[in-house]
Amino acid sequence: MKTLTLKNGVKMPMFGLGTDGVTHISKPIAEAIHLGYRLIDTASAYGNHQELGKAIKEINRAELFICTKINNGDLINATPAQAVNKILAELDTPYIDLLLIHSPSVHAFPAVINALITLKQQGKVKSIGVSNFMIKHLERLNSMIEHIDVNQMECHPYLFQTELIRYCQNNNITVMAYRPFGEGIFAQDKVLQQIAASYKTTLQQISLSWLMQMEMPVVARSNSAVRLAENLQALALSLSTADMEKIKRLNKNMRTCTGSWADFEEEKFVEELIL
Ligand SMILES: NC(=O)c1ccc[n+]([C@@H]2O[C@H](COP(=O)([O-])OP(=O)(O)OC[C@H]3O[C@@H](n4cnc5c(N)ncnc54)[C@H](OP(=O)(O)O)[C@@H]3O)[C@@H](O)[C@H]2O)c1
Repeated sequence: MKTLTLKNGVKMPMFGLGTDGVTHISKPIAEAIHLGYRLIDTASAYGNHQELGKAIKEINRAELFICTKINNGDLINATPAQAVNKILAELDTPYIDLLLIHSPSVHAFPAVINALITLKQQGKVKSIGVSNFMIKHLERLNSMIEHIDVNQMECHPYLFQTELIRYCQNNNITVMAYRPFGEGIFAQDKVLQQIAASYKTTLQQISLSWLMQMEMPVVARSNSAVRLAENLQALALSLSTADMEKIKRLNKNMRTCTGSWADFEEEKFVEELIL
C-alpha cells in the first residue's frame, strides 16, 4: 500500500476503508484486509469499535493504521484521557494511529487537543488531528496547530475547498478526504465521464485517483468485494496534469455531509440546490 509521511514522521496509507453506516463490518473488513487495505476509518459515533477490534485480530497490529474520532458523546462525564482509554479498550488495542476531533462542535476543542498532545507523548495516540474544521476553527488552536497532523474533510470533484486546503498545506496539515463519491452528485458529469472513458475506468476511480494524486489520503466505503477491489485499483491510475486541472475546475462547492454538528460557511448544500 502506498503511504505518505505526516509532518510528525508517521507513515500513513494513502487509501482506506470507511465504516460509517456499515452495519456488519467484519465481512468488508476481512475482504479489505485480504485485498491489501491497511487504513481503516471509524469513529465513536459509528458504534463499531468493538466489532472492528475483533475483525482486525487476523492481521499484525503494526501493519494496520486505525483512524478514529471522538465527539461530545465521549466527553460526557469523562476527561479526554478517559475517553481515549475507553476507545482503546473497545478496539482492544494499545494505541490509536490517528485520533481526530470529529467536528468543531466538540466543546472546548482547544483544551481537548491539549489533552491529546499529552496522550500522544504517552504513545497511546500516534498522530492527532481534526475533522470538518474550517480555517476559523484551526486559528483558534493558536500554537497547538503545530501538533495537528491531519484535517479530514469532505472532498471530491464537486467540493474542493481551495482556501482551506491551502491553509492546511501552509501549516503542514495533511488533508484527508472523506466521501469521495459525493453521494453520486457528480455521477452524471459529462467531463468526468469523458475522462473516465479515456482511462477506461469509472468516474469513482477517477475521483479517488485525483484526490490521491494531490497527496490526500482517502477513505471510501463499500459493502461489495468487487467495488472494494475496483476502488483499490485507483492507486495505480496516473492522471495527466491537464486532466487534474480540468477536474479541479468542476468544483461547485457542493457539500453532501452536514448537520447540527457542523459549522461550515459559504458552501451550498445539496438539499438547497435540489429545492
Ligand atoms: N469525518 C466525518 O465527518 C466523515 C463524514 C462522512 C464520512 N466519513 C468517512 O468517510 C468514509 C467514506 O464516506 P461515505 O461512507 O460517506 O461515502 P463514500 O465512500 O463516498 O460512498 C459510499 C457509497 O458509494 C458506493 N460505492 C463504493 N464504491 C463504489 C464504486 N466503485 N462505484 C460506485 N459506487 C461505489 C457504496 O455502495 P456499495 O456499498 O454498494 O459499494 C456506498 O453507497 C465513511 O465511511 C467514513 O469512514 C467521515
